[in-house]
Amino acid sequence: KQTYPIFTRQDVTKHKTMADGVWVTYKSGVYDITKFIDLHPGGKKIMLAAGGAIEPFWAMYAVHNQEHIYEMLEEYKIGEL
Ligand code: HEM
Repeated sequence: KQTYPIFTRQDVTKHKTMADGVWVTYKSGVYDITKFIDLHPGGKKIMLAAGGAIEPFWAMYAVHNQEHIYEMLEEYKIGEL
């Protein structure tokens, strides 16, 4: 099993622009989704979650509740909280 570096929520909040990188959390995972921003089918709305948790947004936009989307997210994992 792969081990990941540990980050704090404060570390994550420092990554909310394309220049600094765009990080989000999902449960205890930390994800660098910078390279996904331009690929997002939902467009720039994704930036609302930049630097924080995606759960509140995915609760609003239930289109994300699909196995293949969770798998897609895992490809961007860089750490754990
Ligand atoms: C659609 C991925 C974050 C809003 C989608 C779709 C994918 C995706 C794959 C297409 C789903 C489908 O049509 O079956 C992701 C990933 C995210 C993320 C991997 C985070 C890492 C967000 C956030 C928001 C958002 C934070 C809102 C604040 C939307 C909307 C659509 C969408 C509105 C529907 C677009 C449409 O069909 O017109 N997203 N999303 N997404 N996403 Fe996201």
